[in-house]
This record gives sequence, C-alpha cells and structure tokens, in this order.
Amino acid sequence: MRIVIVGAGGRLGAALARVYAPEFEVRGYTHADIDLTSLDRLRELLRAVKFDLLINSAALTNVDYCEVHRDEAFIINAEAPRILAELCDEKNAKLIHISTDYVFDGKRRQPYREEDEAIPISVYGESKREGEIHVLRASGQHLVARASWVFGPDRASFIDQVIQRARETSAVAAVADKFSTPTYTLDLARWLRAAWEKDLSGLLHLVNRGQCSWQQYAQYAIDYCHQQQLLPRRMSVDELFDDTTRTLTVSFILAPSDFIRFPMSSASSSRPSWTISLLQRESKSSLSSSMYAIPPDMPAAKFRPVGPSTITRPPVIYSQP
Ligand SMILES: NC(=O)c1ccc[n+]([C@@H]2O[C@H](COP(=O)([O-])OP(=O)(O)OC[C@H]3O[C@@H](n4cnc5c(N)ncnc54)[C@H](OP(=O)(O)O)[C@@H]3O)[C@@H](O)[C@H]2O)c1
Repeated sequence: MRIVIVGAGGRLGAALARVYAPEFEVRGYTHADIDLTSLDRLRELLRAVKFDLLINSAALTNVDYCEVHRDEAFIINAEAPRILAELCDEKNAKLIHISTDYVFDGKRRQPYREEDEAIPISVYGESKREGEIHVLRASGQHLVARASWVFGPDRASFIDQVIQRARETSAVAAVADKFSTPTYTLDLARWLRAAWEKDLSGLLHLVNRGQCSWQQYAQYAIDYCHQQQLLPRRMSVDELFDDTTRTLTVSFILAPSDFIRFPMSSASSSRPSWTISLLQRESKSSLSSSMYAIPPDMPAAKFRPVGPSTITRPPVIYSQP
C-alpha cells in the first residue's frame, strides 16, 4: 500500500511516517516540501503522485497565532483539506484527516461524543471544524480522526517544555483549570492503522484513557523524571488559573469512539491510559533522552513505572467514559 503523509515534520506526522515506513511505501511531505497556503501548487504536486491513502496531519496548530491570523488559519486548516479530499476522490484514495477537541465549546460537563454538536469558540477550532466538514462532504470513504493534547517522541510538546523549565528555574507553574486527555502519537498510529484496515469512515474520537489538568500532567512528568534521576529534586508544580483568554479557560474532553473503547479483538485497538503511554515513551524511546537533554555525566536511568498516585490531585470534574 502506498501512503502519503502531509505534515510529516510534525509531532504526529513524523511518528506516523516512522511507524508505517517499514511495512508500507510511505512518502512524507514536510512543510518545506509542501506549503499548504499554495493551494494550486499543492494540487499540482500531489496530482503527480500515486497513492492509496493520504493522511493529513499538517495544520496551523498555534491557537493564539490563529486568533490573529484568521485567513491563514482557514487556508491551512480548512481549504487545504478540501483540496486534499478532492485529490483523493480523483484517485479513489482514502483520506484520513486529523482534527481536534477544539471544535467544541467546552460547555458540556460530560465527555464529547462524535454525535455532539461542534460549536468552536476559537479561530483555530472554527478553521479545523470547517476542514472536517469539507472532508466529510467530499466522500463517504474519508475519515476524520479527532485527538487531544498530542505528545510523542518525535517532537517536543507541553511536558518537554515543563521539564526543561524545571531544569532551568526553581518554580514551575501550569494551568490547573483546564482538563483534557493527553494522547500518545504511537497509540494514534496503531488506531489509525486499525481504522483504515477496517475501512472505517466518518468521524472518530481517538484518545487515550484518563483525564488531567495541565498542572497534573506537568506534575506527573516531573515526578517521573525525578524518580529517574533526571531532575535533581522533586518540585511541586504550582497551579495557574488562566482567565486571560476565553480559549484557555475551557476544557474539551473527548469520549473515545467505540472502536477503541470496546476493542473487538487485537491489541491494535487497545486503549492505554495516558500515564502508561507516557511511561512507555520514556522507557522505549531512545529519542526521549535527547529530548530531555540528559547531561552526559548522569547515570543511565533505569525504567521503573510509577503509578497515577503521584498525581497530586485527581481530576474530578468529568466522569470516565
Ligand atoms: N498538538 C496537539 O496537542 C493536538 C491536539 C489535538 C489535535 N491535534 C491535531 O493533530 C494534528 C497534528 O498536530 P501535531 O501535534 O503533529 O502538530 P505540529 O507538530 O504542529 O504539526 C503540524 C505540522 O503542520 C505543518 N504546517 C504548518 N503550516 C503548514 C503549511 N502552511 N504548509 C505545510 N505544512 C504546515 C507544521 O510545519 P512547521 O512546524 O514546520 O510549520 C508541522 O509540521 C493537527 O491536525 C492538529 O490539529 C493536535
């Protein structure tokens, strides 16, 4: 099978390209290879390529930047997916388009299911929602997969920044009133593969198990690094309450689709808790050491799992789906 990955330089795209490359013919396009703001060039470039599946993980993901660059956000997050869907239709190929929890308004006190109405409250969310609509309207065979708080070994994310901060300063603070589900790129890679193998289409919520605030997420990562002697001392992550912008104060929690919630058979669709996947990243990935920039004189860390009990405060506001 020939797979094209657009956004192959990103956190998720790089992981997908790396995981699928040994088994499939994978062509990954980074931002340097394709600029999604040049829609004609995008069309021309991909028209010349033969593929059976296109995965679009490219997006303008900086929520604050999108807020003040509306046109650019809509071209990359909505118009480009429309062109990609049209191209896939021309070639009778499947499109898997990655989307986000930000398509919701955060008012619901229960996790959001696929059938819940998407009412975005940020430009990022609006543009991603329009991208979803274009893809789903183009053909019944395409799939939109929504994820939240994506982390993985291929590109730094929130926790890597927190750990870096913990190395450089004596106090770390993180937002305590925004909750979601960290989701691991390598779990997403397994679920996406299982989804196309079952020829699933429409809309899916693909997230790990469990929920936390940014503060709890940061505390968990710091506790783990301390246990592994990657940080000289345990720090308490101070709570921040962010009331500065409307997009930062709401929580979006996705209810996982039944496809990963009740796995029918194989391990390919099992759904580990985000804490387990975070530990898995640390224990298995040789990349994690470079990401955390372990000083050369540090002894090699021995993997020792820590349980969720190290989280200082359990997330309480949402029920577990
Ligand atoms: N990150 C999250 O927490 C999160 C949560 C939920 C859903 N998602 C969704 O998951 C998908 C993957 O996100 P990610 O975490 O992998 O984000 P990411 O690391 O920011 O990857 C996005 C990729 O898109 C590329 N890109 C941006 N503008 C482009 C343009 N004009 N032309 C071509 N490529 C462009 C970026 O390249 P440069 O970096 O070189 O600009 C980057 O490689 C996105 O659809 C996102 O909406 C992410």
